[in-house]
Amino acid sequence: MNIELARPDDLPELLDFLYAAFRAGNPDHPRFEALFPDLFAPAAEAMARHQIIRKGGRIVSCVGTYPMTVRIAGCRVPAAGLGQVSTAPDMQGHGFMTQLLAAAARRMEEEGAAVSWLGGRHDRYGRHGWELVQDGYVFSFSGGALRAMDENLLVSSAPGSAAEISEAMFAMRDAATGVEDAPESYRIRLGRGEAEVWTAHRRKTDAVAAWAVVLPKARRVADFCGTTDGVIQIAKSAALRHGSLSLPASGADKGLLERLRAECAYMRIGSQMLRIVSLVRTLAAYRPLVEAAMPSGCGATLRMTRGEAPAEEVVLGAGGRAIELDPKRMARLLFGPERAGDVPGVPADLHWLNAVFPIPFTIPELFHV
Ligand SMILES: CC(C)(COP(=O)(O)OP(=O)(O)OC[C@H]1O[C@@H](n2cnc3c(N)ncnc32)[C@H](O)[C@@H]1OP(=O)(O)O)[C@@H](O)C(=O)NCCC(=O)NCCS
Repeated sequence: MNIELARPDDLPELLDFLYAAFRAGNPDHPRFEALFPDLFAPAAEAMARHQIIRKGGRIVSCVGTYPMTVRIAGCRVPAAGLGQVSTAPDMQGHGFMTQLLAAAARRMEEEGAAVSWLGGRHDRYGRHGWELVQDGYVFSFSGGALRAMDENLLVSSAPGSAAEISEAMFAMRDAATGVEDAPESYRIRLGRGEAEVWTAHRRKTDAVAAWAVVLPKARRVADFCGTTDGVIQIAKSAALRHGSLSLPASGADKGLLERLRAECAYMRIGSQMLRIVSLVRTLAAYRPLVEAAMPSGCGATLRMTRGEAPAEEVVLGAGGRAIELDPKRMARLLFGPERAGDVPGVPADLHWLNAVFPIPFTIPELFHV
C-alpha cells in the first residue's frame, strides 16, 4: 500500500475528503478549513503534515501529525499531535487507518517527538499504543454565582480577528504553560471557533496583567497567560458574559491551581490520549523536574518494551532495580492519573516513585488537532 505526503495541489480534494468522512457520522461537522485554519494552508510544509492513501486516483484515507514544543514547568517537551484520522465511508474496514497510524508513529519517532497525543476514543487508539493519561485539571465557573471582582483590574474582550496582541503581550506566553508559537501562526489560530481574546488591565497603570483566548460556543478557555489574579478575573468576567466557563490548568501551575480551586464552582481531572514515542527523549525533556523531585539515594532503571524493537532504558537517580513496562503502562507511570506505585507492574515497595511521578502534561485547546 502506497502512503504519500499530501502536496499543495491536494488541498481542495483533501478538505472535501475530510469533510465527507467526518460528516458521515456527524451531519453538523464543520469544514476543516473553518475548524483548523492554521493546519490547512496551501503550502508544501503544511500539506506534508498529512499522510494519505489513494485508490483509483482519489484520496481514501488520511492521518495528520503536527509537531509542537510544549513548555511545561520549565521543561520543553517535543510533542506531536495526531489528528484528521479518516477513511472514506465506502473504503472502511480494509485496514487503511491501521496502516496510517503505524506510518504516523514511525514518522513521529524519526522526527524526534518524545510523546504523541490525540483527542479520540480510547477503545480505538488504545489498540494502537495511545493511552489515557491525566491532562491537568478543568475548573468551571458559573456566571450566576460569582464572588466579588477585583477592583484593581479591568477586563475587556474583542473578537479574535480584531484583537490587538502587542509584542509585549505575546511575550507573556513565554512564562506560561503552553505551546510555543510564532505571532503570525498564532493570529491564524485565532480564527478557530470564533475565538475571543479577553484582556485584564491594571486600573492604575493600564498594564496588561493577563490575557486569554475564549471559545464562546464551547464556553472554554483555549489558551491563557499572565498573573493568577488577571486570569481569574478574566474567567469570572467571561463566565458572567457566557453563562459559564471552564478553564483547563496544568498540574504544574501550583499557585494558580490553589486560587482556581478556591473560586471555582466545579473541578474535574482532565484526560488526554498519549503515547510515549521515546522514553529517552521524554525523560531528557523533563529532566529538570524529575531531578528536582528525586529523593536522594534512591534510584531505579526504567525499561520500556517496544514489541519487536529493542527496549529503551533510562536510569533514574542512583540506578538499581529495573522496572519493565510496555509503552501504555509507562505512559500511566509517567503521566498518571494514578500514583506511580499503583500502576500494574511497578513493584509495591518503590514508594519514592510517588514523589517523582506523575509529571504534568497539558495541551491548551487552541492547539488541539
Ligand atoms: C475511524 C476510521 C478512520 C477507521 O478507518 P478504517 O480505515 O476503516 O480503519 P481500519 O480498517 O484500519 O480499522 C477499522 C476497524 O476494523 C478493524 N480492522 C483493522 N484492520 C482491519 C483489516 N485489515 N480489515 C478489516 N478490519 C480491520 C479495526 O479494529 C477497526 O476498528 P475501529 O473502527 O473500532 O477502530 C473511519 O471509520 C472513519 O473515517 N470514521 C469517521 C471519521 C472519524 O471518526 N475519525 C476518527 C476521529 S478521532
